[in-house]
Parts: sequence; structure tokens; C-alpha cells
Amino acid sequence: MRARVWAGVFFCALLAAQGRRGANPLAADREPIASGATTYAARCAGCHGRDGKGGEAPSLHKSRIVMLSPDQRFFDVLKEGVPGVGMPPLTGPDAAIWEVVAYVQSIAKAGMGLPVPGDPHAGRAVFQEAGCLRCHIVEGRGGVLGPDLTGIALQSSSAAIRESIADPAARVSPGYRAVTVALADGRSVEGILKNEDNFSIQLIGMDGEPHAFSRAEVTAVKSRPSLMPLGLASRLSPEQFQNLLAFLDRQRAATARSEIGFQNY
Ligand code: HEC
Ligand code: HEC
Repeated sequence: MRARVWAGVFFCALLAAQGRRGANPLAADREPIASGATTYAARCAGCHGRDGKGGEAPSLHKSRIVMLSPDQRFFDVLKEGVPGVGMPPLTGPDAAIWEVVAYVQSIAKAGMGLPVPGDPHAGRAVFQEAGCLRCHIVEGRGGVLGPDLTGIALQSSSAAIRESIADPAARVSPGYRAVTVALADGRSVEGILKNEDNFSIQLIGMDGEPHAFSRAEVTAVKSRPSLMPLGLASRLSPEQFQNLLAFLDRQRAATARSEIGFQNY
């Protein structure tokens, strides 16, 4: 009898915990995402598009249910379908439905999907050894030439982070235009353009210090693809690169992290 009462209490506590977070119960690794991708391609892509950005049916990247609701609500929509609009229920075992939840989140929700696989501790060492700290702040220290990466995983999807490193010039973050300023006295200064108006131009130089010039001193301002060194990724082994991505994936702002019950590592 007592055992049953305790079992009941335990079960309610479990439900409460589950209800509060409504979180995906699958283990955090690459497998569920990979098999979710297969199911998605077969059962969803025809209506919502191969990349989930919409087709005949709306974009999942803009869906409240995908982006804002607890995982459990997203799960329920898939299991039940959306009657009346022609979205069929996703039949099959619950685990397979959770896999689709994990996959769709990994493509649509920056920092909210399952953690990127890899060893974040080893990735932190790669971050330091590859010289990233010279230009970027993480965990409260680093340089200011590049954007602060403290909450990067909440702002950018893991695919976008990967691209930023593999091909820095592909997409330059706003406010980080790289320039070379040529001066009348023959010198030139490289850095990030911070502000310019009719009278002056201000940048952060490669030395990390602010520089201001009056227009009269400046003979030319040339844009460069990105201040971030090209070819950084090709100097890393695939394993080092994966660990680096895992480390950056753990850079999620503290508030959001506790909201979704995310353990840093
Ligand atoms: C036959 C076409 C079709 C298929 C297949 C389909 N959907 Fe849908 N889905 C729709 C339509 C249409 C809606 C629009 C509902 C509305 O307008 O409220 C929808 C709505 C949704 C929503 C809710 C969007 C929101 O924010 O209201 C989600 C999430 C979703 N689908 C995910 C999926 C996933 C994941 C799959 C694959 C397991 C899938 N759908 C398969 C047609 C489809
Ligand atoms: C010489 C300075 C410099 C170094 C070294 C550097 N970066 Fe950057 N990084 C930048 C600048 C400047 C930007 C913004 C311009 C751009 O997007 O190209 C940037 C952008 C990024 C972004 C995109 C940020 C966003 O807000 O979207 C990521 C991610 C990133 N760097 C990661 C790294 C990693 C990882 C390393 C080390 C392997 C590294 N960076 C090394 C200067 C640097």
C-alpha cells in the first residue's frame, strides 16, 4: 500500500517535471536527428518544403508551435495531425515522432534543438589554440574585433555558425564591415568600421584600439571580405572542427538556458 502511494507521488512528480519543461525525452545525440531527417523527408517535406521553409503548407521556421511552444505541444500536433486543413497524423511509435521534433528544431530553432554532438571541453581548447579568443569574447574574456559569442547559439543555427567559420565572407555580421583606410600621409589602417559621417570615420584597428580620422586625412576607404581570417577551418581536423562547433553550441545566454532546462556541460 505504502509502496503504491510512493509510486503515485513519484509518478506525479515526474509528470509535473515533464509538464513544466515539456521537453523532448530523447537522448542528445546525432542519431535521433538523422533518423528524424529521414522521416521528415518522407512524411513532411512534400507539404512543408525540403528545408521546412514552406511549400504548399506554411513555413515551420515561422510556426509558433515549432518556435515557441513546449516540445510536447509540437509532438501532439504531429501525433494528431491538423484536422480540417489536410495535415495527416504522423503514425508510428512515439520515439519516431520525437525524432521528427528533434530534427525540425535542429533546422529551425537556433540554440533550442538537441545539443550539437562533439566534445565541448576539447572544443574550448581548439577555440583558444586557433586564436579565436583574440577577436571574440566567450565566457567573459577575449578580444573585441569580432562579435561577442556569449549567446551565439541562441542567435544563429548551428548550420549558420558552421558557415561563419568555414566561409567567413559569405555572411558578414551587421556592424562588422572590414575596411582598409588609406591616409593622406601614406599610412593605411585596417579594422572594423564603427561609424562614419561627413566629417569623420571611426574604426577599431587590428590592435583592438579605437581610431578616429577626420575626412580630410582620409584618401580612400576600401571594403574587405571579412576581418575573420579565411581558411581557419581547413587548418583543423574534422574532429577538432566538430568539437569547436559543440563548444560554440553551448554558448547560450544564461536566462534562456535555465528556461529550457539546458545543462551547459
Ligand atoms: C498533406 C500536407 C501536409 C503534410 C504531409 C504535413 N503537413 Fe503540417 N501542416 C499542413 C498544413 C496545411 C498546415 C496548416 C495548418 C494551419 O493553417 O493552421 C500544417 C501545420 C503544421 C504545423 C503547425 C503550424 C502552426 O504553427 O500552426 C506543424 C508544426 C506541422 N504542420 C508540422 C508538420 C510535420 C513535422 C509534418 C511531417 C510529420 C507535417 N507537418 C506533415 C500540411 C501538411
Ligand atoms: C582577426 C579577428 C578574428 C579571428 C582571429 C576570428 N574571428 Fe570570428 N569573426 C571576426 C569578425 C570581425 C566577425 C564578424 C564579421 C563576419 O561575420 O565575418 C567574425 C564572425 C564570427 C562568427 C559569426 C558571428 C555572428 O554574430 O554571426 C563566428 C561564429 C566566429 N566569428 C567564430 C570564430 C572562430 C570559431 C574563430 C577561431 C577559429 C574565429 N572566429 C576567429 C573576427 C575574427
